Amino acid sequence: MNIQTVMITGAGQMGSGIAQVFAMAEYDVILHDIAQEAVERGMKGIQRNLEKQVDKGKLSSEELHNIVDRFTLTTNLQEAERADLIIEAAVENMEVKKSIFARLDVIAKEDAILATNTSSLPITEIAAVTKSTERLIGMHFMNPVPVMKLVEIIRGLATSQETYDAVHEVVKTLNKVPVEVNDFPGFVSNRILMPMINEAIFTLYEGIATKEAIDEVMKLGMNHPMGPLTLADFIGLDTCLYIMETLHEGFGDDKYRPCPLLRKYVKAGWLGKKTGRGFYTYS
Ligand code: CAA
Repeated sequence: MNIQTVMITGAGQMGSGIAQVFAMAEYDVILHDIAQEAVERGMKGIQRNLEKQVDKGKLSSEELHNIVDRFTLTTNLQEAERADLIIEAAVENMEVKKSIFARLDVIAKEDAILATNTSSLPITEIAAVTKSTERLIGMHFMNPVPVMKLVEIIRGLATSQETYDAVHEVVKTLNKVPVEVNDFPGFVSNRILMPMINEAIFTLYEGIATKEAIDEVMKLGMNHPMGPLTLADFIGLDTCLYIMETLHEGFGDDKYRPCPLLRKYVKAGWLGKKTGRGFYTYS
């Protein structure tokens, strides 16, 4: 299947990162969000990222312009009708995702692939609102998308081999590594990462060590690029809580119980880097 035009719906941190890597790999990109302001903010972030690459001599100004020229910005989901691959990167909310895919099912070309960047929600359940269950698949990118090599590819119960093979090939053209996983809560990445982050929060909550000490132990002792509390701030504490709740609900095991301190921070609106305060403060 020939994939040339890709729509990304959701122009936040993940969506704009995904859009950037597709445009850099010479795909035509339609960047969509419901608010014009969100699309423009996403595009500004992409431009800033690309300008940094130019400053570092990793990209020429001409290449930057070519990449930017590959973008169409829109608030009209109907534009999905000309996309060969549509990747949803909206908020982690099942109802929102179902309503987007129910609409895409009607708008998209008959052979277009519908993908979701969900970090933990069941692909099979999202697919159930569409008639295109065999063309629906999970493509889970990691943050920051332009840097991280992994894309988890998640098959829903009905995802066809043809869809899987096409997405596998597309990921390779982005210079990223596709890894196949099955459709279970948190897939592989967040089933392992989030309980570690949650345990780091419990360690802080129980007064075992300061936040700095916890992060330092994991950075220097395990060679993690960021400590777990810094990483939680970077991912967003609301997202961390949501994923822990998905794991807890999905497996029903107490080991996935979200730490009360995580709940408290989210209730306070301390969501991490994006709100200027989480475990750390950001200016
Ligand atoms: N966007 C684009 N590029 C970025 C970036 C961003 N947000 N942040 C950093 N970079 C680039 C820098 O420009 C730099 O590029 P060059 O090599 O071309 O100069 C490179 O990444 C390294 O950056 P820095 O030197 O500034 O900093 P660093 O070496 O500490 O790396 C990091 C930063 C890549 C974020 C690193 O700290 C890291 O790997 N952290 C862990 C990230 C991680 O675990 N991500 C997964 C989160 S979980 C997830 O995404 C799944 C989910 O569902 C929740």
